[in-house]
Amino acid sequence: MTPGLDDLLTVLRFPSVSTDPKHKPDVRANADWLVNKFRAIGLKPELHETPGHPIAIARNEHKPGRRTVMIYGHYDVQPADPLNEWKTPAFEPTIRDGRIYCRGSTDNKGQHMAHLRGIEETLAAGEELPVNLIFLIEGEEEIGSPNLKPFLEAHREELKCDLVAISDTGMVKEGVGTFTYGLRGIACMEVRLHGPSIDLHSGIFGGAVMNPNTAIARLAATLHHDDGRIAIDGFYDDVQPLQDWERKAWQGLGETNHETQHLTGAPALWGETGFSELEQRWARPTAEINGIGGGWQGAGSKTVIPREAMMKLSFRLVPHQHPDKILAQVEAHLRKHCPPGVRLEIIPGHSGMPYVMDPHSTLGQAAQRALASAFGPEHPIALIREGGSIPIVQAFKDVLGVETLLLGLALPDCQAHAPNENFPVSSFEAGVKLNKALLRELA
Ligand code: BES
Ligand code: ZN
Repeated sequence: MTPGLDDLLTVLRFPSVSTDPKHKPDVRANADWLVNKFRAIGLKPELHETPGHPIAIARNEHKPGRRTVMIYGHYDVQPADPLNEWKTPAFEPTIRDGRIYCRGSTDNKGQHMAHLRGIEETLAAGEELPVNLIFLIEGEEEIGSPNLKPFLEAHREELKCDLVAISDTGMVKEGVGTFTYGLRGIACMEVRLHGPSIDLHSGIFGGAVMNPNTAIARLAATLHHDDGRIAIDGFYDDVQPLQDWERKAWQGLGETNHETQHLTGAPALWGETGFSELEQRWARPTAEINGIGGGWQGAGSKTVIPREAMMKLSFRLVPHQHPDKILAQVEAHLRKHCPPGVRLEIIPGHSGMPYVMDPHSTLGQAAQRALASAFGPEHPIALIREGGSIPIVQAFKDVLGVETLLLGLALPDCQAHAPNENFPVSSFEAGVKLNKALLRELA
């Protein structure tokens, strides 16, 4: 068995679902395991309590004159639902065709455990790490890291570092080292439309009251124009246009429409006119309805006008959009377009800033050399931005004043957040190499 894989399989068995109060003990058990492991391999561990889930930190002995590198990861995972779509149980890691199937295998346990294994091997060989290390693994990334930014603010001095490195993003293709220099931000909200004070008989009252389901559908339909542009006043005001070099670099990745259609299984791709599929996902903002509902969803028909309807919205943001400003614009839009006869309630959710850095900077180049040494010389390193969000990344910049290097190991078909999430054993091995090369390059 690949050295270190047993530890990965052990942590994968913790159902560390941060959003579900029922799993609080499992989240803690995962954090405790990490702390014990840090100690066992010769690092100095710390477990920091927060109002939510704990933060696990490890350090080596810091020496003057060396670079201080923070490696960040998250041990929390998304819920595993829908459970019946898993081929093997969601929290029982199973290896098939060289891939480990388990919730959290890619996002993010496989990736941060590869770094941990790299560090363990270096120390076990009797070598010193070439940098001052702060290894920080939090338990709330999948719920927007609500307690990590306050933690950074309260511990600025102890967390002082020269840069942050994270493996929690993707690769364009198996075997192609990929450097991500930008992420989208996010802003979430829930919308509720309240109609009659009780569910009504749709025969007796139908025709004389606004049905909240009709109202939510009409409201939802106001978010986009037919060409895919978002119809909210001012939404694009702060969007930084794509630069020529990045449009060209992404064109160099070739035609991706077919692969994306295949990966998604959608009957056809659909997006904002005037942008390539990659640009739509990596560098354009979006408005998504993540959930919508109201009224009767059970078997057969039930002639009812429900008393309320709801939708959950999230907006992916790009530099230099700000989540607070966007949420205010969305609220104004919803108030303006809300049909008569219902009362609108808006419940703001979590948010995170977008991020972009210069991949041609000295640090960016060091990261790319590390990727080249982990993945070999066959392919040039791909320089990309990504559509997903890691809200704490911009906070590292704002609070600690440092850039973050994103060296992801996730494959396009890893099924993160979905049933049958998986991570190849070979990616774990590549991650171990990447850790060693990265610390060497950064030193
Ligand atoms: N690892 C992802 C972020 C990611 C995914 C980056 C794909 C690049 C490509 C992370 O764990 C995640 O899922 N983040 C959430 C954040 C949200 C819940 C605040 C996301 O993007 O939805
Ligand atoms: Zn995730």
